[in-house]
Amino acid sequence: MKRAVIAGAGAWLPPKLVTNADLTARLDTSDEWIRTRTGMSVRHVVEPGTATCDLAVEAGRRALDAAGRDADIVILATTTPDRQVPPTAPEIATRLGLGTVPAFDLSAACAGFLYGLSTASGLIATGAARSVLLIGADAFTTMVDPDDRATAVLFGDAAGALLLRAGQDGEPGAVGAPVLGSDGSLADLIQVPAGGSRTRVNGPLTDLADPKDLYFQMNGRETFRHAVTRMSQSSRAAVTAAGWELAEVDRLCAHQANARILTAVADELGFEPARQLSNVADVGNTAAASLPTLLAMAAADGTLKTGHRVLLTAFGGGLSWGAATLTWPDTDVLVD
Ligand code: ACO
Repeated sequence: MKRAVIAGAGAWLPPKLVTNADLTARLDTSDEWIRTRTGMSVRHVVEPGTATCDLAVEAGRRALDAAGRDADIVILATTTPDRQVPPTAPEIATRLGLGTVPAFDLSAACAGFLYGLSTASGLIATGAARSVLLIGADAFTTMVDPDDRATAVLFGDAAGALLLRAGQDGEPGAVGAPVLGSDGSLADLIQVPAGGSRTRVNGPLTDLADPKDLYFQMNGRETFRHAVTRMSQSSRAAVTAAGWELAEVDRLCAHQANARILTAVADELGFEPARQLSNVADVGNTAAASLPTLLAMAAADGTLKTGHRVLLTAFGGGLSWGAATLTWPDTDVLVD
């Protein structure tokens, strides 16, 4: 059976920065609270008029250039499509010059990239695709209430991409079988209450019970608890499925939701700081873009090296979570 193998990687972060000082100037918060509770200092954010597609095209182009080949299929994992209809991926494919290839969006919140990795692996295993461009992109700050200190400090915008090709098990760059899960009984913990079919906006926004229902809302404390449990459980299962021991994993690449969550997961799994990848201080939580952006940035700065065994894990709204293993290949990575 064919395996998905990484042939190229790329990431793109919008140039505008929002520092903790920028946030404390307009919100009832402090640099000390943000740094100690989240580990974040800076985020990259889109300017008005820039959308998820724009980020995704930049990252996708870099992954294609790094791989030196085209894709048969484009998958966009995102929580913030440009519009509710149509899906965003077809426009990405067109703007990347990929013609009329199949292209679709995948929605699994911050776990979207792992769900996308599983889908891409399946498409390659069945022979439906020889190469898949998998992009995780979110302009998450467009969905966050700028006046809500509990969420406004957490998020940034970014896109990361992998070009996956058909290869063999055991090859450098081969992706292991992802382990995924969900729990819809906790759907209300992380949500945008309005704007979907349950609470459609038919008239002016003032018709809504609360106009703030169009913004992202999260029960942070409860989410924290489930995030640690689910990422730890799925990580153990993915490592076992790969036939590895946790001690043999060279780098833990976990969804960058919060530095304290990362520490809790790393402690639970026995990863000392030298084996953890992190960019949460410099980019914040970038939702579906978090994992591919971290992989690309770590490969570019040398903290992730050829041959490293990597454990990926993520958690988000749904609830949805997952984990996967891979070995980092000798491949080009384009980031700026
Ligand atoms: N500045 C100052 N005080 C604040 C801020 C802020 N920016 N935000 C919240 N507070 C206050 C709260 O009002 C509360 O005050 P109170 O005790 O007087 O009521 C106090 O700080 C503690 O609030 P908590 O929410 O309990 O704070 P906590 O330590 O849990 O940190 C945080 C909040 C950072 C959101 C954390 O819970 C977290 O990271 N949760 C998980 C997020 C996550 O994993 N998300 C992943 C999925 S996201 C997705 O799918 C898109």
